Amino acid sequence: MNQPHVERPMSHPTLPAGPLNFRQLRDNYQFLRGFVRNPARVGSIVPSSHQLEQRLVQLARLGEARMVVELGPGTGGTTAAFLQAMSPTAQLLAIELDSEFHQRLDAAMHDPRFNLELGSAERLAEFLAARWLPAPDAIVSGIPFSTMAPEVSDRVAATVARVLRPGGRFVAYQVRAHVADFMSPYLGQPETCWEFMNVPPVRVFTWVKPGR
Ligand SMILES: C[S@@+](CC[C@H](N)C(=O)[O-])C[C@H]1O[C@@H](n2cnc3c(N)ncnc32)[C@H](O)[C@@H]1O
Repeated sequence: MNQPHVERPMSHPTLPAGPLNFRQLRDNYQFLRGFVRNPARVGSIVPSSHQLEQRLVQLARLGEARMVVELGPGTGGTTAAFLQAMSPTAQLLAIELDSEFHQRLDAAMHDPRFNLELGSAERLAEFLAARWLPAPDAIVSGIPFSTMAPEVSDRVAATVARVLRPGGRFVAYQVRAHVADFMSPYLGQPETCWEFMNVPPVRVFTWVKPGR
């Protein structure tokens, strides 16, 4: 059967692990600028590593997902890796709070499966409804639960738990463990592992929403 043609993201074909190339250097520079603009919000000085991207793809089972949400795409390295792993007929909604990152992603990503919104992850349900998108099979999040206001973190956690399809996965990569304090009341205990091949090393938390 012929698969529909999907244009891969222009600015981020999946990059091989290896020496830094020009595109990575430019992304690292843009990311660092974002960190300087708002350290607490961006939460890291460099984008996620290839190893972390691939771990997220596997833990969130993105190859099987029809609807994927990314909270905090930043400069789009993770986004490109997710799109690369996803089926040609799946959809990705990315929600970014930083207007410069948003502008950059909007200009650079030309994949028909990619939907982008500017705003807080708290508005996830509203953004899905506005685009008539189905309940997500997977939500992947890099937003910093440890530095966000507790009421914001709680609203994001409640929304994620509500919109996720039963049996769907919430995967969060974090330096600290605060995300579990907010998420576990809604989705129970997560599976946790470390990704050391990242700057800095991060914990990756995976929740599966009960039901089917
Ligand atoms: C650690 S960076 C991750 C960037 C990218 N996904 C990566 O892994 O390289 C966190 C991102 O979350 C965004 N962010 C922080 N708070 C947010 C919120 N409440 N809603 C949406 N995005 C948020 C930041 O602007 C930043 O782009």
